Amino acid sequence: MADLTQSQAEIDLEPLRDILQRDFNPDDYQEAEELILGACQEAQSLYGWVPQPAAQLIADHLGVTINRIFGLLTFYADFRTDPPGEHAMLLCHGAACFVMGSERLIGELNVDQQLGPDGRTPDGAFSVQVVNGCLGVCNLAPVAQIDHHHYFGHLNRERLAAVMQAIRDGQPVEDLDGVE
Ligand code: FES
Repeated sequence: MADLTQSQAEIDLEPLRDILQRDFNPDDYQEAEELILGACQEAQSLYGWVPQPAAQLIADHLGVTINRIFGLLTFYADFRTDPPGEHAMLLCHGAACFVMGSERLIGELNVDQQLGPDGRTPDGAFSVQVVNGCLGVCNLAPVAQIDHHHYFGHLNRERLAAVMQAIRDGQPVEDLDGVE
């Protein structure tokens, strides 16, 4: 997968161009319309978001307008049009975590980390997403998952801030797992 923190100018469009030429060859405009979502999913899978040059390439390849592409990208919440942070964090807001204080934790996190509307910290270190579904480790509630595999439980304001700072400082996430 490409470096998720790369800027628009650094995007390597060749892998996307190859996929489009191989798998996205509509016979008519109607078919091109139907392929837009799939092409955007390929771009997001490659880059972690859909950069403007990738959207333009998809538009040119399918013969649709860039406005049509961005209309769909902004309609569907699963697509990102801004680069994600370096580390992906899911903060659980499921039932058990709610009972154990996730609501308050989310508010404190927003204040302490100055999250933007897209959930990114200003330094680009984290992308935070609050999830209402259970992360499957209710015994650790309230809990956060970082970088898809690492769970941090029994969180409070101080512990969450300490974990995030340690990751910013370059401490391997593995070494922080299970910290109480
Ligand atoms: S509700 Fe948060 S891990 Fe189950």
